[in-house]
Amino acid sequence: MPPTPPAPQPSPSLRSSRSSRLPGATGVAGASGAEPAARAAGLTKVYGTGDHQVTALDEVTVEFARGRFTAVMGPSGSGKSTLMHCMAGLDPVTSGSVRIGGVELASLNERALTRLRRDKVGFVFQGFNLLPTLTAAENIVLPLRLAGRKPEAAWLAAVTGTVGLADRLGHRPAELSGGQQQRVAVARALLSRPEIVFADEPTGNLDSRTGAEVLGFLRDSVRELGQTVVMVTHDPVAAAHADRVVFLADGRVVDELHEPAADAVLARMLRFESRGGGHR
Ligand SMILES: Nc1ncnc2c1ncn2[C@@H]1O[C@H](COP(=O)(O)OP(=O)(O)O)[C@@H](O)[C@H]1O
Ligand SMILES: [Mg+2]
Repeated sequence: MPPTPPAPQPSPSLRSSRSSRLPGATGVAGASGAEPAARAAGLTKVYGTGDHQVTALDEVTVEFARGRFTAVMGPSGSGKSTLMHCMAGLDPVTSGSVRIGGVELASLNERALTRLRRDKVGFVFQGFNLLPTLTAAENIVLPLRLAGRKPEAAWLAAVTGTVGLADRLGHRPAELSGGQQQRVAVARALLSRPEIVFADEPTGNLDSRTGAEVLGFLRDSVRELGQTVVMVTHDPVAAAHADRVVFLADGRVVDELHEPAADAVLARMLRFESRGGGHR
């Protein structure tokens, strides 16, 4: 009988190095019942009081699975930004539940919420929000530095390599194109290996070529780094980069598509736009 071959060594891939340091407590094991990266249940957000009340989110229930790329679409004023801000713990909810990696945000005091936002959530805004006096590298590591943590050299190299910024790290934002600046902002959001990255129209200020660059990078961060990304966009071509599209109208989830093609996304968008975004 031939000798048993040695067990294969675990591959030192980015994905395995990443998942091996994910917090073990929240069902990352890969079972089908695994905790989603984030979930909202009956999430309602009302702005203002009295006659000036606006129900921006109306009992939204939605889950974002780990390691997936989800696009959120809907007419202007349908509640997309509010959903991102409430789920990221940037804006308090009126009622309902938001969980990030199994942690109920409502159960956290202000300090714990700040820590969760810092460690578990990455946020990419439409404007790149980079500090002009810092280099790209300094901008990328700033949130970790502020948290008193040192970036892991290997992970920093993996992230900046995936972003395609390795030769631009010493440049200041003004010396970078819009697409490069937004990729710096995305790298910054990824560096703490957050449970989830929320991106609110990250390509909204970019021309289509640099927008495609940033989208490709977001998709690679999902496929190669195992990141979970939720991205608001109004562009069906951008949404077609995602694994799934969730449609909002009037503060409610009204539809979703899986493995979307741009023409199918467009057809669905037109259906919801034509209803007229009646605001309350
Ligand atoms: N800070 C705020 N105060 C009052 N109303 C707001 C505020 N932010 C958003 N809204 C209202 O909530 C609704 C949803 O807004 P928003 O989430 O920004 O939509 P979207 O991102 O889909 O365009 C809109 O009617 C908007 O006017
Ligand atoms: Mg918005």
